[in-house]
Amino acid sequence: MPTAAVTMLEWTPEFAVHVPEIDREHQFLFGIVNHLHEAMLAGQGAETLGTFLAELAKYTIYHFANEEKTMVAAHYPEMLAHVEQHEGLRRRVSEVKVRFERGEIALTIELMLFLSDWLRNHVTVTDRRLGNYIQVEQSFTAYLDKARSPGPAHRKHIRAYGATVRGG
Ligand SMILES: [Fe+2]
Repeated sequence: MPTAAVTMLEWTPEFAVHVPEIDREHQFLFGIVNHLHEAMLAGQGAETLGTFLAELAKYTIYHFANEEKTMVAAHYPEMLAHVEQHEGLRRRVSEVKVRFERGEIALTIELMLFLSDWLRNHVTVTDRRLGNYIQVEQSFTAYLDKARSPGPAHRKHIRAYGATVRGG
């Protein structure tokens, strides 16, 4: 009888940081962790596990770099602390990948739990703070844009005000 796949890390709306690009990438990243976990549970060989692990390492680097570009563009004040967390996981994942490829370590449930806990915490705390900041920044920018290009009602009001000031 086949055993039901155990989902290690499922992306649900509670993980949303409300920045569409970041949310999409998180869903993909969670998916890779699940593939790796399922492959490990299914007793897949080192070659398959190695492929998933390499994909995880590559995607982690790609995704963190995107988040970091977003932080730079937004002049995010908490960037240093956030990048420090990324750096910790980047180092850990690449170390695991290298040691696995050398045959020095095996994939373990502890490692999978570490990964899923790390991502869960990082996304719901650190990335959510970034998401909130980006949302406020975007709505403020939209407000400024609107203020710079007033609509018809606003223009009428400005004309009326100008006429009053000029005494016309
Ligand atoms: Fe992050």
